[in-house]
Amino acid sequence: MSFYKVICLLYCITILTPLVSPTPFWNQELIESRASGNHNPKTNTFDLVLKKVNLAPDGFTRVVSTINGQYPGPTIEANKGDRIVMNIHNELEAPTAIHSHGMFQRGTPWYDGVPGQTQCEIPNNYTFTYNFTVPDQAGTYWYHSHALTQYVDGIVGALIIHDPDDPYKAEYDEEILVMLTDYHHTEAHILLKSFLTPESEVPDNGLINGKNNYDCSKAPPGSTCVDNAGLAKFEFVSNKRYRLRIINTSAFSSFFFSIDKHVMEVIEVEGSYTKRNKIHRLPINVAQRYSVIVTADQPVDNYIMRSEFQKMCMPDEAISLPVVTAIVHYDGAPEDSVPKDIPWTDFLEECIDLDPKTLQPLYEENIPEATREIKLNIAFHKDSLGIDKAFLNESTYVPDFTSSTLTKIFEGKAANLSTAENAFTFNTFGEVVDIYFINTDDGEHPFHMHGHQFWLLGIGNGTEVDKSALNTINPIKRDTSTIPINGWSALRFVVDNPGVWGHHCHMWHMQVGLVMQLIELPDEIIKMYPPETWSELCELKETLGY
Ligand code: C2O
Repeated sequence: MSFYKVICLLYCITILTPLVSPTPFWNQELIESRASGNHNPKTNTFDLVLKKVNLAPDGFTRVVSTINGQYPGPTIEANKGDRIVMNIHNELEAPTAIHSHGMFQRGTPWYDGVPGQTQCEIPNNYTFTYNFTVPDQAGTYWYHSHALTQYVDGIVGALIIHDPDDPYKAEYDEEILVMLTDYHHTEAHILLKSFLTPESEVPDNGLINGKNNYDCSKAPPGSTCVDNAGLAKFEFVSNKRYRLRIINTSAFSSFFFSIDKHVMEVIEVEGSYTKRNKIHRLPINVAQRYSVIVTADQPVDNYIMRSEFQKMCMPDEAISLPVVTAIVHYDGAPEDSVPKDIPWTDFLEECIDLDPKTLQPLYEENIPEATREIKLNIAFHKDSLGIDKAFLNESTYVPDFTSSTLTKIFEGKAANLSTAENAFTFNTFGEVVDIYFINTDDGEHPFHMHGHQFWLLGIGNGTEVDKSALNTINPIKRDTSTIPINGWSALRFVVDNPGVWGHHCHMWHMQVGLVMQLIELPDEIIKMYPPETWSELCELKETLGY
């Protein structure tokens, strides 16, 4: 277990009011406009109030950071081509910033939501508006706070871009959103302080769409806790075909997702369509997303949906964590009968992604040759002060929250970024960059690149990238992929999106330093016009000193 994972953990507190959002439903108007095929771009506006509320998603009451009083937050939906306006009203009593994970933000890099990289934080009791279009992407995404540990406390929601030209449109009848997460009973900032105690390494529970039961006999004395808080329930109608959009919003945990007796066919990963690919169990790491088609082709009954912790990549104490479950209820089946336990038993290796060979892109692409190669070693050890940190080529990321890299570029001050900012600059439009990660750590790391999808050329064991094993014919394009334990991964992207793009392990941002930033086309950036509301955030930060 790497220190990084250890630190990935966090939590505690008292609470009330079991107000968990119901299984999300879909915006019918959007779906119909998609189906009609004559979609006129429109503006979709969302008013989002961030606020701490007492909730008990699994029966254990704690302070949850909520969006509009609910957890998970409301689903942001739009059609490809639309505009998304997110009015963020911050009442968290702490500064925040919201990142829309997977959005390219082409032309609007200031709305990427990363403190220290693309903006100064939004102060408490302040409203900031993110305003961007999605002309060239569709699929399953999510949004979350990118400030410190806030997303772990609940500032997360799904972000779905429907595709008017979805090639699979005729192959499913309805959509279902499935959000998986690990779950802690302690607030993240408290866990952060005690991150080295062994107990804090393991989540208390896991949730599906913000629900699960918890055995309250394990809760500390004095907690407010009720057993059998209830599982999420998904309604199936015989013979209907469902597109499940699955999102792992965990702080730390990868899962195997499955539905007893039901085959899943993968059709999308993180905004890329794949060839239909039958599987029984889906590995899904932190921040990854998949769409699968499931047909209600089993006898009318109740079935278990399960999200199993991949315990090989967790501390030994995780062994007692239960399988996280939800119910798939067929129309006509008894409401409350307990489903039979009939899990798929196919063996899957833990702590690595779904085999890239089984993720074939639906559309052929010509993959350009690389013109630049960057090699990055991942290691964990103590820094000069004796504090455990994560290092990329022996440099641990230290953010500068007093400003942002993007701000410095506009101010002409980006030349003197400290080396601890782990910045890599790309000046040539169209440059094709290969990044090789070499991980000598005993933990796996789900790395996310902002502002892009990358081609995943390959993964392997050991400390040498095997270039002969790289797939440059039909690699999948995605935005989050796992660097294996004591292994490497190779990815390729094209420099074509002016901005500052984070690239980091998603288990845990900013706190131990496994973060870099890609400064892309700074000469183009300075020709752009960021909105005043954005520049004001840094001025506010300076005057108010939060
Ligand atoms: Cu989910 Cu840096 O983001």
